[in-house]
Amino acid sequence: MEELSKTQSEGTDRLLEFDLSAELKHGIAVSNLVYALAMELGLPHEQCYDLAIAGMLHDIGKLKLRSYINGQEKNPLVIEELKYVRMHSTLGYEELKGQGYSDFVLESILYHHENYDGSGYPSNLAGEEIPIGARILRVCDVFCALSQDRSYRKAFDRRTVMELMIDEIKNFDLEVFLAFQRVVHTRKTG
Ligand SMILES: [Fe+2]
Repeated sequence: MEELSKTQSEGTDRLLEFDLSAELKHGIAVSNLVYALAMELGLPHEQCYDLAIAGMLHDIGKLKLRSYINGQEKNPLVIEELKYVRMHSTLGYEELKGQGYSDFVLESILYHHENYDGSGYPSNLAGEEIPIGARILRVCDVFCALSQDRSYRKAFDRRTVMELMIDEIKNFDLEVFLAFQRVVHTRKTG
């Protein structure tokens, strides 16, 4: 669905209007949700905790990207911007590597834009090639992005968010998605 492709690439089309407070809010929401989902899936507690960290930090590469793009402002072509934006997961991984984070945290961040059908980035991984932490993060990231107000649009209501996500179910690990549905249906807020 076009609407979702637009929203799924959030942080891509409006990157030059990077909003730190919205990004922090998003990180906190994702962090809380990935922790709950990892618990629901029965992951070891250490991995649940690691995912909470990854949830907070997953888009940190955008900070680097911003200064990179700001240096390229003479050529702000949309297609170029998209190419740069697709670097943010790798940039985040590179930034955090060697700073004491576990491989589980680092891989979850590196692959959080991989799609289950192999259409994501940076490595076009598919299915269980994608680390479980990244598969969990993918679902929660999309849900939280669509559920949050942005400078250019209001948040979608819960029913619409779920419909948009089901339209794009090919992107998600079905087992993770079903557990995610159980989690959000028992939570008062997204
Ligand atoms: Fe991201």
